[in-house]
Order: sequence, then structure tokens, then C-alpha cells
Amino acid sequence: MTTTLINGKEVSQRIREGLKTEIAALTAQGHTPGLAVVLVGEDPASQVYVGSKVKACAELGIYSQKWALPTETTQEELVQLIHKLNADDRIHGILVQSPPPKHIDEEAVVLNIDPRKDVDGFHPVNVAKLVLEEPDGFVPCTPLGCMELLKAYGIETAGKHAVVIGRSMIVGKPMANLLVSKQANATVTIAHSRTKDLAALCRTADIIVAAVGRPKMVTADFIKPGAVVLDVGINRVPDATAARGYRIVGDVDFEGVRDQCSYITPVPGGVGPMTIAMLMANTVKACHQLTTAS
Ligand code: GUN
Repeated sequence: MTTTLINGKEVSQRIREGLKTEIAALTAQGHTPGLAVVLVGEDPASQVYVGSKVKACAELGIYSQKWALPTETTQEELVQLIHKLNADDRIHGILVQSPPPKHIDEEAVVLNIDPRKDVDGFHPVNVAKLVLEEPDGFVPCTPLGCMELLKAYGIETAGKHAVVIGRSMIVGKPMANLLVSKQANATVTIAHSRTKDLAALCRTADIIVAAVGRPKMVTADFIKPGAVVLDVGINRVPDATAARGYRIVGDVDFEGVRDQCSYITPVPGGVGPMTIAMLMANTVKACHQLTTAS
């Protein structure tokens, strides 16, 4: 079996180059896209993600604000900030990094984000627009990035059986909706922790999207020869030989399954870089829609 490694770094770079041109054109018209990234607390992984998002904005010419709030921030204070950002004309996209500290009700917070600035696609208005296939809504960045990878490699989805492992609102559910949409026309099964005989189910899949957050859970016995495997997992596992004391592995046992796949995303360098590229794309889309709306 010839296996093609899906290079998310390369695809995301191409997308970012395209966005740069679009951002320069918007800026020339006096509409520099703007993104506010809000982080509450000190989760180390979230700090890294937020740093990468702000850095990407600078590289592309997007105006950004980073709000790093202390763990003790109250829900009310966070909501007040969101209302301020909703009213700020320089800001077209607002993102509150997930997960917040336990005392914050994430769903209630998201309801306060103006859906037109909800570049994460977490607001119920945007969830509905995805299900209704309305093109002006915002789709969560990671599943959107997965679809872009399939497109970039010319991978056919119509009539294929896709198994999405994981039912989160950030990845699993939107991923399933994108795959079943009239754009993609796949037949979709959503698997989760209560699914019976997951390996046997996955062996019927032409496309597997692993988004559970369990290191190397998808093993060789899950794979039909020639399947396409997208690995959304970013798991830190202890590694005494690594400088940081940990290394990043996906939800897929990459070395164990790669030879059976027609296409597979590595971790890192597969889906990961696409998430940020799609966040940038959603911010540019929000800027277009907010500045051309009557
Ligand atoms: N945490 C992990 N992924 C994401 C994401 O796409 N958006 C936000 N806001 N938080 C996340």
C-alpha cells in the first residue's frame, strides 16, 4: 500500500499566504481584520495555543488583542469584557480559549458573544447555521481544517463511510455535520465512549476522524486497508528523553497503522497547523461580513 502523509504544515502555509493578500486588500480599504483572544487562568497548553494564535495574527497582518485574565476572574467580569469586545469596531472575531477554569460556565459565556464575531463557531446560532448549511455562519476551526485537508489532497468523500470518533461540540459533532453536508455527501457514523466494538465499526470506515483525546487509541485492528485517517488528537505523554519532559502524540498509533492507510495525518504537523489557519480565515470572513453588511 502506498501511503501518503498529509502535510498540514504545507497546506496551512498555502492558505495563510492567500489570506495575507486578502488581509492587505481589506486593510487598504480601511478594514484591518481584528481578533480578540481571551484566556482565563494558567493552563499551560492553553497558554501555548493562545500565544500561537496571536503570533499568527501578527504574521498575517491581523490586528489582535490578547486578554490574559487571572484564574479568579468571575463569570460576570468575563461577560463584561465580551460585551466590550462586541462593541469594539476594531474587533471582528472573539475567542475565549477552552477549557476555562471550573467556576466559569462556558456555554453561558459563549451566549454573550455576538454570533457575527463568533469565529470559533460555538454560539448556538452558528451551530444551527452549520446544520442548516447556511454559508454565512462560522464553523469550528479544527473540523473546518480537516475538510480543507481532504480537499487539498483531492480525497473523495461522496458516498464514503466516515466514522468520527468523539462527539464534542468543538470537533466531533461539527465534523460529522460537515461530512454529511451536501458539500461532502459522506455517510457518517459518530462513535463515542459507549459505542460497542469500536474496532469492528472502524474497519467498515473509508475515512476515520479520531477526536477523543486518548493517546494512540486507534490501532491497526481499526483500519480497513486503504482507509484515510485524520488524527485530531494532541496528547502530552511523559517522556524523560524529551527536553520538556513530555512529547505530543495523537489519538492514532501512527507507526502501527500508517502502512495500512492510503492517507494519514501525522502528529504533529497534520491537523494541528490547520486549526490556526482556519481561525485566521474565519476572522477574515467575519471582517468581510461585518464591514460589507448594510
Ligand atoms: N481549545 C481547544 N481547541 C479550541 C478551539 O478551537 N477554540 C477554543 N476557543 N478553545 C479551544
